[in-house]
Amino acid sequence: MSGLAVIYLKMKKIITTSEKETLEFAGNMAEKIKTGKVFALLGDLGAGKTVFVRGFLRGLGYKGRVNSPTFVIMKIYDIKKNPQIKQVCHIDAYRLKSAADLEAIGALEYFKRKDTVVFVEWAERISKLLLKNTSYIHIESQKENTRVLKIKKGPKK
Ligand SMILES: Nc1ncnc2c1ncn2[C@@H]1O[C@H](COP(=O)(O)OP(=O)(O)O)[C@@H](O)[C@H]1O
Ligand SMILES: [Mg+2]
Repeated sequence: MSGLAVIYLKMKKIITTSEKETLEFAGNMAEKIKTGKVFALLGDLGAGKTVFVRGFLRGLGYKGRVNSPTFVIMKIYDIKKNPQIKQVCHIDAYRLKSAADLEAIGALEYFKRKDTVVFVEWAERISKLLLKNTSYIHIESQKENTRVLKIKKGPKK
C-alpha cells in the first residue's frame, strides 16, 4: 500500500461484520459532521468503499442511488437536509491516467469547500493532490462479510 501506510499513527479501528453495519457506522459519522472534509478511501475492489459512501449519504438524508462513479469519475450529490453540508462529491480515481485529469474536470474546486464532503475511492492514485487535512479510511476484507476499517481523521479545514 506504498507510502500512505505511515499515516496510521493516531487511528481508530472498527470491525464490521455485515454491509448493514458499515452503512450504519458511516451514517452515524455523517450525522456528526459539521464542516466540509476530504476522505481518501483505500482498499481493494469489493472492500466496501462505495458501501461506506452510500452509508454516509444516507446519514445526510440522501435517498437516491449511490454507485462507484467508475466511468464518469465524479458525481455530485445534492444534500438538502443538512445546514452545513450542501453537497457530497464522490470521486473514483480507478480509471484516471494522471492526477492532472482530475484537475481538468474541476474536481479540485470541491476539495476546499466548507459545505462539501469529498470522498475519493482509489485515492492512492491521486495521492499527490491530497492535502494535509485529508482524512483516510482504509477498508480491508477479512472473512466473507467482515471488514476492518482504519480511520485517521485529518485536522479541520
Ligand atoms: N462488512 C461489510 N461492509 C461493507 N461491505 C460488505 C461487508 N460485508 C460484505 N460486504 C459486501 O462487499 C461489497 C463491497 O462493495 P463496494 O462497496 O462496491 O466495494 P468497493 O467500492 O470497495 O470496490 C458489497 O457487495 C457488500 O455487500
Ligand atoms: Mg467502489
